[in-house]
Amino acid sequence: MQIRIDRGNGRPVSRQILDAIRGDIEAGRLAAGDRLPPIRSLAERLEVNRDTVAAVYERLVAEGLVESTVGRGTFVRAGKAAGRPEPGSFEPRLSPAVRRLLDLDRGRPRLATAADVAPLHTLIPDPGLYPVSDFRRAFSRTFASEGAALLAYGGPQGHGGLREILAGWLGASGIAVGPEDVVLCSGASQGISLALRLFAAPGDSVAVEEPTYHNVLATLLALDLRAVPVPMRGDGPDLAALERTLEQPQVKLFYTMPSFHNPLGVTTSLAHRRALLDVARRAGKPVVEDAFETDLRLSGRPQPSLAALDGSGLVVHLYSFSKSLFPGSRVGSIVVRGPALAGLLALKQATDLGGPLLVQAALAEFVRSGAYARHLGRVRKVMRSRRDALLESLECEMPEGVAWTKPEGGYQLWLELPAGFDSRDLLLDAARAGVLFAPGSQFHHDGRPSRGLRLAFGFADEPRIRSGIAALAGVVRQRLRAGPTRALETGVPV
Ligand SMILES: Cc1ncc(COP(=O)(O)O)c(C=O)c1O
Repeated sequence: MQIRIDRGNGRPVSRQILDAIRGDIEAGRLAAGDRLPPIRSLAERLEVNRDTVAAVYERLVAEGLVESTVGRGTFVRAGKAAGRPEPGSFEPRLSPAVRRLLDLDRGRPRLATAADVAPLHTLIPDPGLYPVSDFRRAFSRTFASEGAALLAYGGPQGHGGLREILAGWLGASGIAVGPEDVVLCSGASQGISLALRLFAAPGDSVAVEEPTYHNVLATLLALDLRAVPVPMRGDGPDLAALERTLEQPQVKLFYTMPSFHNPLGVTTSLAHRRALLDVARRAGKPVVEDAFETDLRLSGRPQPSLAALDGSGLVVHLYSFSKSLFPGSRVGSIVVRGPALAGLLALKQATDLGGPLLVQAALAEFVRSGAYARHLGRVRKVMRSRRDALLESLECEMPEGVAWTKPEGGYQLWLELPAGFDSRDLLLDAARAGVLFAPGSQFHHDGRPSRGLRLAFGFADEPRIRSGIAALAGVVRQRLRAGPTRALETGVPV
């Protein structure tokens, strides 16, 4: 953004700044989603009073050209010259929930990924491991045998064969259900959305771990629900805080990831799980257990799921094929026991008339043929060695004062810089040095800074992981030498 102020031309300085920014937006030099410089830094750069810049920004907001969100900044609104529609064009007013969602999205960092940058930011599994041939064969076989029946509406529960398989797995893990209790859904994502809508109405609140899976925060916004954070401790969510939170009448449920937490990578103990269920039971509030990476245990003893420890219908259990197989199947499941199941089926039917039977049936055949078990064996082996490479590199490369978790499964771990550092401040330097990570702030319900960051090992191969960590350690060392940039509260103890 180039702004030149001419103090001798008689036009007020504020007018000159306003015209310059407005001109940039209207000419497309500033695009939708672009962030305007913080008031303080622009005022310093232009050598004007902060109030002058603040007044200009307020005017731009009033004109509908930009949007401001406390704590995130000021962004150019969608649509060139937003607020001034082209003659004849229709500019619908988006719902408040969607506008908040767009704000959240704009506040998230966007960095282009070059081919030589280590992608340690993403939880997408490595496409090189997708079992394309085996899945194609399963798909052909099942289509040949079930034919036109797979082209009908799926109905709210989904393909019976796949539900039978899932009920068998769930039963083996201690969750006593039949195929009639399993509802197939479009990934765990749809399961989350269904569970939220099952128990909470717009304006209600939902207890979430802090930090938590960032897309749950987006889903809450989209559904006009408020996130109430329950801080994560080294051994899982703080149960005293959970108790206080669930006592509030507007808080309707708790969303949690007891195994391979995203972003922390931690797994809670059996004692913690039992105590958590006691808290929820006393409060009479349902618990949504997101077991999205349950098939990806890499070491250590499996812990019983919350759903296995509770037979009373308190726990809603979510499963997904996205991380263990491939995300494009969009197949997961949601299990709700007791009288709420009828509500879930009605909600699912109202949502989409059922998911794609074709893919669900192919998945069932893929599992029955033994291809899924073979695939899982291979993926776990590769991921175990990637995780170990990551931990080894961190041990060798990271300077004193940096700590990280050691996940027993899944694809992610959490690294913490010393107190006073904001991981977002490292992102650009890290990208330039050849590595991407997910900054901890995006897992906070209010987007506030975090000294933590998530590193994922599902996408990058071992050499890329090692080079990425060497690059990150270089950036961290440089930052530590420069000292903290801002005062931050302490994060999650790791
Ligand atoms: C905690 C968590 N739950 C759910 C999902 C989404 O899963 P799906 O692809 O099954 O919708 C993700 C994806 O990263 C996740 O991290």
